Amino acid sequence: MSESISIAVVGSGYVGLVAAVCFAEIGHTVICVDNDERKVAALQGGDTLIHENHLPELLNRYRNNRVRFTTDLAEATREAQAIFIAVGTPQSETGDADLSYVEAVACEIARSIDSYKVIVEKSTVPVYTNEWIRRAIERNGVEQRLFDVVSNPEFLREGTAVEDFLHPDRIVVGADTPEAIKLLGAIYEPLTGGEYYNQTGAIGGCCNASTPPVLLNTSIKSAEIIKHASNAFLALKISFINAVSNLCEATEANVEQVAKGIGLDSRIGPKFLRPGIGYGGSCFPKDVAAFRSVADQFGINFNLLSEVENINASQKRRFLAKVRSALWTLRGKKLGVLGLAFKGETDDIRDSPSIEMIRMLLAEGCSIVAYDPAAKERAMEVLPEGKQLSYADTAYDAAKDVDALLVLTDWTEFVELDLPRLHKTLRYPIVIDGRNLYDPGAMAALGFTYISVGRPTAHPARESGSLTTPGRRA
Ligand code: UDX
Repeated sequence: MSESISIAVVGSGYVGLVAAVCFAEIGHTVICVDNDERKVAALQGGDTLIHENHLPELLNRYRNNRVRFTTDLAEATREAQAIFIAVGTPQSETGDADLSYVEAVACEIARSIDSYKVIVEKSTVPVYTNEWIRRAIERNGVEQRLFDVVSNPEFLREGTAVEDFLHPDRIVVGADTPEAIKLLGAIYEPLTGGEYYNQTGAIGGCCNASTPPVLLNTSIKSAEIIKHASNAFLALKISFINAVSNLCEATEANVEQVAKGIGLDSRIGPKFLRPGIGYGGSCFPKDVAAFRSVADQFGINFNLLSEVENINASQKRRFLAKVRSALWTLRGKKLGVLGLAFKGETDDIRDSPSIEMIRMLLAEGCSIVAYDPAAKERAMEVLPEGKQLSYADTAYDAAKDVDALLVLTDWTEFVELDLPRLHKTLRYPIVIDGRNLYDPGAMAALGFTYISVGRPTAHPARESGSLTTPGRRA
């Protein structure tokens, strides 16, 4: 049996909350701390706060027993052997990460340390942050022998966060003292030793007892750079395939075939080669900017990252141009929009390409009926209903009598739509898909004009030829 360790997790956002319940799931006792009293009360009362697969069942199982929620960081610090910092690191105006929350937490922890603690940085932070945390704690009068600082970056993706946490490709621990390495090793032992995967009711995924995840011990600075470099590299892959998709469009090649062809090279791999309207979310845009800014600060030329950002921004403008060319003019057109979240299976709209597209389309004078399976409430906070914008309760309602239907998020629900029903619902059977969810041949056979990314436009089987330009139906 692995040892049960007392852990505090500071921050109850996507990373903190998921880490807290997953640590409980692998046998540890967790205190989850947040300074937002309303959030803590909601979590104590049974709310899950975010839309995340497996989170409701785990919260149900561990809430108020193996996972306690509190606003009291001092008490949590005194009780825990390891304190994980998982607070936000938003982007500052200059592009680098704003570390004021991390600093505030470090200082507060320092004021309550009364025995040896390992302080673990889990938020994505620039290299040298751990050094600053160490100094902040020392400045608050804590002796060096009473604490270690460790970098343990989290690689979970929203939507599959619980599964990613429990079935990671790797666990990175940047630590430089034997005590800290030992404690982090013990925390992850149920995963790295394979024990968890034999547990009754264990959440399934790619790891099992015979192929458990690897724990990679590195220096603290390497671990910090691994996190930024991983996200920047994935963003680069997406921008690369988006640039290739533009070339495919210009030459009437098919980017799906090209992505498959290059992805089969095991040195490249098939993942993160899906073209679309650009990456978004709370990590890639912020982390690419922060990594570029870190390179700048050290005088390193990393203009490659600026190009990644440029391609990402231009992808949305290209999509807008596609909508315009399909509809001739935009002013006064009624559009259905499927998807508000930055990607499928999440309710997160932070830096969502869809939200930005809707803003651009509204500015062009379109009216929009939008639908998302989970992100409507959050979207309504930033894009309230009005004369030009309303929200539908189903995909079919969003498609009702519109001049074209735009697909902006890759929800599985959209892949599974009844397409013949959708065809009957639309005023004009035009689908402009920013996520390549459907097969162009099948869409043409169903009578749609189907415009996607990096693939030739498919025209209705019966009316092959140029694009149908809709006028108002008499
Ligand atoms: C990302 C990283 O994957 C994860 O390791 C890290 O911990 C946090 O940042 P996340 O932002 O949750 O996770 O989502 P991810 O699935 O990586 O997608 C990010 C964005 O890229 C989304 O907007 C998605 O739609 C887009 N994307 C992803 C593509 O456009 N094409 C792809 O092939 C993959």
